[in-house]
Amino acid sequence: MRNSEIAISIKGLVKYYRDFQALRNVTFQVNRGDFFAFLGPNGAGKTTTINTITGLSQYQSGSVQVFGYDTKRNYIQTRRLIGLCAQEFNFDPYLSIHQLLKYQAGYFGVSAFQASRRADELLERFQLRDKRNLKHRALSGGMKKRLALCRALIHDPEILILDEPTAGCDLELKFRIWDYLKQLNNEGKTIFLTTHYMEEAERLCKTIGIINHGSIVRIGNKKDFIKEKNLEAAFLEATGLEH
Ligand SMILES: Nc1ncnc2c1ncn2[C@@H]1O[C@H](COP(=O)(O)OP(=O)(O)OP(=O)(O)O)[C@@H](O)[C@H]1O
Ligand SMILES: [Mg+2]
Repeated sequence: MRNSEIAISIKGLVKYYRDFQALRNVTFQVNRGDFFAFLGPNGAGKTTTINTITGLSQYQSGSVQVFGYDTKRNYIQTRRLIGLCAQEFNFDPYLSIHQLLKYQAGYFGVSAFQASRRADELLERFQLRDKRNLKHRALSGGMKKRLALCRALIHDPEILILDEPTAGCDLELKFRIWDYLKQLNNEGKTIFLTTHYMEEAERLCKTIGIINHGSIVRIGNKKDFIKEKNLEAAFLEATGLEH
């Protein structure tokens, strides 16, 4: 990996959906090993930013690099470095959940044997082992969330991008996911997370970035955010929202 201290580097990113400008000169970086919370109101541009990092969205100007590789020119390398847990479920309806994981690993060059073993491990860890031969339709909402996490992790990526990973999860599952994410971060994985739960960001993250109407309005160390105010108050101030 090149330029290995910077996991994600976004410079001057401008993105339009037809004549609507979703991203306005977005610039920030996420260091290797960071636990980064990307916060912002609904429609602020979080998922759009994520889509540019994973190559799902085109953009008009600016650049996005992952460990020093340009996400457009070196799409395959950069995509392999990232595990994405998307905001919306997009599972193949014809596959069992074990097959889903195996196929996903195949896209990233993991051998069938390795993929099957890793799928078993992840299903066990997220308590989905007894569902391994079911289609995803047969899972509850929280189970689908867990499956999405398993899929993001199947190729053991360096960077995990999680778009609202605990939305709709019960308390026990939320705590389980938090513990696991902390463990992964302690092991050196870089984690980029969006959430509307301030407690989640406050408990897990080291660095916080706030986007509003497509512009970064504040970015910095979590400790600086919460020095004078709690995170919710700092968030409301940065976004100009009223309580
Ligand atoms: N495919 C698309 N076509 C047109 N406009 C889009 C598209 N995707 C997103 N947008 C618009 O871009 C803006 C940013 O959307 P985005 O999904 O990035 O927000 P978000 O910060 O992830 O919000 P949320 O917290 O609700 O998930 C919104 O105004 C949205 O309507
Ligand atoms: Mg979103």
